[in-house]
Amino acid sequence: MAFSHKTIEKNSILMLVLVLVVVSIGGLVEIVPLFFIKSTIEKVDGMRPYTPLELAGREIYIREGCYNCHSQMVRPLRAEVERYGHYSLAAESMYDHPFQWGSKRTGPDLARVGGKYSDEWHRLHLNKPTDVVPESVMPGYPFLNEPLDYKHMDAFLRANAIVGVPYTDDMIANAVADVEAQADPESEGYDALLERYGDNVNIRDFDGQGKQVTEMDAVIAYLQMLGTLVDFSTYDAKANNR
Ligand code: HEC
Repeated sequence: MAFSHKTIEKNSILMLVLVLVVVSIGGLVEIVPLFFIKSTIEKVDGMRPYTPLELAGREIYIREGCYNCHSQMVRPLRAEVERYGHYSLAAESMYDHPFQWGSKRTGPDLARVGGKYSDEWHRLHLNKPTDVVPESVMPGYPFLNEPLDYKHMDAFLRANAIVGVPYTDDMIANAVADVEAQADPESEGYDALLERYGDNVNIRDFDGQGKQVTEMDAVIAYLQMLGTLVDFSTYDAKANNR
């Protein structure tokens, strides 16, 4: 054994060939099983595509570079799970184009921020973070109180549908109406919106400014749904991995 190892180490071509053999076995063991499973994403109850208003909020989140300071992935480590809640599932970002996992946390992870604060807290916080968290280094975004430009939301949904998000023709055709319906609990579109996206849609006047749909409405609608779709009191990781 000792002799043969010496031979290998002294013969660079033989060494190279053997390294390639070993590396390709390792590669095959990892890659081949992927051809035999339908999807690497587990099926999870509760996941739905973003509503048009949430999608618009997500776009503003990306536009403003919130991801430079916030991640959206709770890692399966004890410290993270105790702080933020159940670790993130692949399915929870399957409709994200692009995903917002991030790697920089100047501020906390936001993957499960939905429902943690009131809309009013978010309003105050986004306008001027130090009003609610005096030591905050997050910048203010008071310009989010401007009207939201959502006339193109149907095209936006269609673009997402092309890359695999299951938006139906009905959802695309009603994208603009659904934006208005979600930001106004008294609107006529209330039931139709729930019918299209399911019961776990928040329909509120998120920015507290009445009928006008602002960018603030969109961002808060997005933040308030983050991490709330999967019901972890009934979620069974083992059953879902079979
Ligand atoms: C320069 C870094 C930075 C940027 C950019 C930034 N944040 Fe923050 N954010 C922070 C810090 C630091 C905190 C923690 C202190 C606080 O609550 O203000 C925070 C806290 C938060 C919280 C509260 C989280 C919690 O669990 O308490 C939310 C929600 C939030 N940010 C949303 C946003 C959104 C939306 C944007 C983009 C419009 C954004 N942040 C941009 C640094 C940033």
